Amino acid sequence: MRDNRVIYEKAAEGRNGYGTPALQRSAEELLSILPVDARRTNDAALPEIDEPTVMRHFVNMSTTNHHIDKGFYPLGSCTMKYNPKRNDIAASHPGFANLHPLQPEETAQGALQIIFDLEALLCEVSGFGATSVQPVAGAQGEFTGLAIMRAWQNERGQGHRNKVIIPESAHGTNPATVTSMGFTVVQIKSNAEGLIDPDTVRAAMDDSVVGMMTTNPNTLGLFETHIEEIAKIVHDGGGLMYMDGANLNAHMGIFRPADIGFDMMHFNLHKTFTIPHGGGGPGAGAVGVTKELEKYLPAPRVTATTDGTYRFDYDRPHAIGRLHAYFGNFAHMVRAYAYIRTLGGRGLREVSENAVINANYLKAKLVEDYDLPHPQPCMHEFVISGNRQKKLGVKTADISKRLLDFGVHAPTNYFPLIVPEAMMIEPTETESKHTLDYFAQVMKQIAREAETNPDIVTSAPHDTPVRRMDEITAARQLDVAYLED
Ligand SMILES: Cc1ncc(COP(=O)(O)O)c(C=O)c1O
Repeated sequence: MRDNRVIYEKAAEGRNGYGTPALQRSAEELLSILPVDARRTNDAALPEIDEPTVMRHFVNMSTTNHHIDKGFYPLGSCTMKYNPKRNDIAASHPGFANLHPLQPEETAQGALQIIFDLEALLCEVSGFGATSVQPVAGAQGEFTGLAIMRAWQNERGQGHRNKVIIPESAHGTNPATVTSMGFTVVQIKSNAEGLIDPDTVRAAMDDSVVGMMTTNPNTLGLFETHIEEIAKIVHDGGGLMYMDGANLNAHMGIFRPADIGFDMMHFNLHKTFTIPHGGGGPGAGAVGVTKELEKYLPAPRVTATTDGTYRFDYDRPHAIGRLHAYFGNFAHMVRAYAYIRTLGGRGLREVSENAVINANYLKAKLVEDYDLPHPQPCMHEFVISGNRQKKLGVKTADISKRLLDFGVHAPTNYFPLIVPEAMMIEPTETESKHTLDYFAQVMKQIAREAETNPDIVTSAPHDTPVRRMDEITAARQLDVAYLED
């Protein structure tokens, strides 16, 4: 039986799990070293508990939630793929893990080289002339890109421009970042195929537009096929083209954004190149730009000197500033570097090919039982609709709750907003055919249950440590320290 009590409730006096060596000096003597106002006046309220119980407590807690090491996690747009453990081992190498950000450059040459080489590798994958790995999230990469757009427009005497064109199929962070930058979003509609129509962009383009942001592949999992024409319209109108490249895992080694007219993009290293993703943990949202825009990238930049060493260059008068303390999330740079070097160019291409094949395979298995608003071939993810099931009284949220009974995490629900009862599914390249077949079979079973026994779906989950939560209260009044029985 699961014991859901917190560790303080499990503790009892005398239930010690440790012993310490006898003191060499008296407690009074040791205490006298501390200034009086730094000394405790009462005992610390630490739980007394034996070591196996502590270990079981945390191991059980780690399996209470769903996570990628426990089960399939097709959360569209989030790329919850298996992260090879070898990359974590590389990042925790003492030579990296024990570095101090303020130690002299000459004692951290290996680390600087990793940053330098990783930026060069990202340039190769994307086609851009320069990259900065300093931003620590995809959304921060977007912020960086828009700040660069602003700096570029200001320098051209176009500082009055304040609008950014965004298609309705964009990822939610795109309009949010535009607004946080003080710009205004000009939202344009997608066409019947779920793609951006160049004529719609032409109609939205004027001399108040800073640029355009496009998630590609878009949130329907579809590749934007008119980018070259759209980029020309935006450039002719004096704007810049930003690609949200968080979905780069769909086209590595196949398509390079810089080659068809994008001026900048961000990468989500924590989606595409290993790195545990989710839970609000640290990320890495590198930004790539054309050579012309390189001078605006955040400072400092790592440069290679002619004598074969690396140094930080702080003297960058055009830089938009600094995005993060020190240099970004360095451990993630090591993970991404190890991942790219392990796979090589051909391996990265295979990653994308398999991500796309897996998504199309799964989509074909689900179309019989679920509505598919955009039937054309998808990239690494696709969106189905639970409309058919909703008419039977079973909502998309119910289907997702029922999936938990089968050890599967829900797809992204109700997003993108342009598909009613949306379920956005991203299987990733790391899942086996066996896992995809299992998921398809579970989805089929749930579709049958919706027809014959809807109560079992609408009352799900039945087999999880907590059932249906009040998700709004849970998010607003988060209490991570206590689990109810
Ligand atoms: C397409 C897309 N753009 C932007 C983001 C934002 O990235 P982050 O959560 O690192 O800020 C995500 C996140 O998964 C994404 O999928």
